[in-house]
Amino acid sequence: MKDAIAAASPDVLVVSGDLTQRARDVEFAEAKAFLDSMALPMIVVPGNHDVPLYNVLARWRTPLAAYRRHFGEDEPVYVDDEIAIAGINTARSFTVEGGRINRRQIETACKRFAGAGSDATRIVVTHHPFDFAGGKGVVGRAHMAVAAFVQGGVDLIVSGHGHVAGAGESARRYSAAGRSMLLVQAGTATSGRLRGEGNSCNIIRIERPRIAIQRLTWHEAQGRFAPSHNDHFQLTPNGWSRTLSADLHHLQS
Ligand SMILES: [Fe+2]
Repeated sequence: MKDAIAAASPDVLVVSGDLTQRARDVEFAEAKAFLDSMALPMIVVPGNHDVPLYNVLARWRTPLAAYRRHFGEDEPVYVDDEIAIAGINTARSFTVEGGRINRRQIETACKRFAGAGSDATRIVVTHHPFDFAGGKGVVGRAHMAVAAFVQGGVDLIVSGHGHVAGAGESARRYSAAGRSMLLVQAGTATSGRLRGEGNSCNIIRIERPRIAIQRLTWHEAQGRFAPSHNDHFQLTPNGWSRTLSADLHHLQS
């Protein structure tokens, strides 16, 4: 995974949660050391596994204490000339697996995007998905969030949790929202808890008005992460829309 990411040379590494199995300090330390070893700017959000499950007191009083000891802010921000990324924590103490987003979180993310350039690509990162949930439920209050993010000019929502990779237009599922964002779903990056597909990560290449998403999947025979799937999208008056790849080969380099 490290070699594949180094080869792609991304501007920023996005990790959409579930860094640990049981929110233990030793697990967080190991995840942090691994991610730090890539020496890249990072946007990391917690997942449901990053909240203590069996320590009930900690689960309710300080659910993110261990996470924050190692990763700091649970709703981080990254902004450069071309992209603006806002992480949102969708993990909750009152559900074991499901997640939720609230109005304050949505407003905060949209405010953070307000200062980005008009041509900047705006990206929300959550653990719980808005689509492609791999049989799991989508994040609670998804319809409210999608409507607000469309209004706020969000281009992509990048999520995890489902263990099944995918990408597509938000308008396929959220027809009332008007302009379409892209919903991008990460598979299982490094864990052995797989759900019918190999370990993978997405390389998202943005050359506005085009975005190419290349999935790298672990290829046992080759002993490396190799390209397994490509999605291409173009910005239209109705938002992001899937397009043919013929004119986008330069984005694959
Ligand atoms: Fe999860």
